[in-house]
Amino acid sequence: MAKRKTKFVCQDCGYESARWMGKCPGCHQWNTLVEEIESSSKNKHVPTSSQHISKPEKITQIESTDEPRMKTPMKEFNRVLGGGIVPGSLVLIGGDPGIGKSTLLLQISAHLAEKQLPVLYISGEESTRQTKIRADRLGVAQDLLFVLAETNLFDIANQIEAIKPSFVVIDSIQTIYREEIQSAPGSVSQVRESTSELMRLAKTLGIPIFIVGHVTKEGAIAGPRMLEHMVDAVLYFEGERHHTYRILRSVKNRFGSTHEMGIFEMKEEGLREVMNPSEVFLEERSEGAAGSTVVASMEGTRPVLVEIQALIAPSSFGNPRRMATGVDNSRVPLLMAVLEKRVGLLLQNHDAYIKVAGGVKLDEPAIDLAIAVSIASSFRDHPTKPDDIFIGEVGLTGEIRRVSRIEQRVQEAAKLGFNRVICPQNNLDGWKIPDNIQVVGVSTVQEALDISLER
Ligand code: TYD
Ligand code: MG
Repeated sequence: MAKRKTKFVCQDCGYESARWMGKCPGCHQWNTLVEEIESSSKNKHVPTSSQHISKPEKITQIESTDEPRMKTPMKEFNRVLGGGIVPGSLVLIGGDPGIGKSTLLLQISAHLAEKQLPVLYISGEESTRQTKIRADRLGVAQDLLFVLAETNLFDIANQIEAIKPSFVVIDSIQTIYREEIQSAPGSVSQVRESTSELMRLAKTLGIPIFIVGHVTKEGAIAGPRMLEHMVDAVLYFEGERHHTYRILRSVKNRFGSTHEMGIFEMKEEGLREVMNPSEVFLEERSEGAAGSTVVASMEGTRPVLVEIQALIAPSSFGNPRRMATGVDNSRVPLLMAVLEKRVGLLLQNHDAYIKVAGGVKLDEPAIDLAIAVSIASSFRDHPTKPDDIFIGEVGLTGEIRRVSRIEQRVQEAAKLGFNRVICPQNNLDGWKIPDNIQVVGVSTVQEALDISLER
């Protein structure tokens, strides 16, 4: 019998080594190398040259087809994908356990089956009966929705080829295994090889396949990071467990823009899309409270209004705390330093807590001004006007820098009944200000505070 060869593979980045090491030279993580058995049939699917010859084509002669997309009735879902499901695409959906990945995909499956498109839902984690319980709860009962509880990829591929569905869900990739690979399901080799086989199936049959991936404690999709490189699109389904709102965002999309987000609400009878996110995010706002401002932030192509809260309190220990949820943690000390140095607020002995209400994550610089004004407002214990909106990037000299898509942001503010927008002076030219809102340009943080915190 041939000697079994083993290798050590980093479970994070896929680095391979002949011996075990504590620290992965590839990604510098500790304790990620795991012994795996080398498969003998590694190159099984490499086509020989006689089978498969592709020739270069002139770019002018390639047909430019606008990919026909499958539209689901969930507009929020379509938008995140860039306008619908692209046939033959492989899409990865990651998210914490219990956030609602299975629920979302089962609902999408049901919508498609209702449109007479056969759907195959493969559950590696739950029995068909457990899936049925969920389906009953969601009121899902379509004849063309097929459920298969299977983890062996060979059998799954056979079923896909037999049923020829229009849409396939694999829930989850960490439970799927290929027989010829000897390591455990969920290991790097299994996840990688299973994904590449699913990719081949999707591309050759032209079937869109959605795979669910679990998320590790650090928030990345478990298994190799290369999984994200292999698939066509990567979506994350997020939200706080105790809140009912869920956000679907794309971090990679070969067929559309990233930065798009779809907002859903988890109800007793499943997920419902939220069409007017700004209203939802401002729902619980306590108007007239010090430390609260509203920003118009762009989430992909859509502006949303979100409340930013700050609490500045005297620090009781030597080391003041700076904590932020929903915004980049390193922006807060920076903005506080600007306020201290350019405006003269003595913040150094104060704790600062910043929170974006509603569990959204904002990651564009245009929210700087709102954070800075919230901090100043809480520090001085002086509320801003409840119908003001703040937009602008703050530079290190305290200047307010221009932002993108000012017109859309202002329109959204006007639509929701706000009276005044405080935005960068440099943004004032070249667009039409709506009639029912006042727009004030500012060049420095000091100016913005003078206007908004005037007595
Ligand atoms: P699930 O889709 O199983 O999460 P995931 O696949 O991401 O692990 O969602 C489970 C949670 O959603 C669970 O806490 C119950 C809740 N839920 C509802 O509130 N309403 C529903 O209709 C369904 C099906 C689930
Ligand atoms: Mg699940």
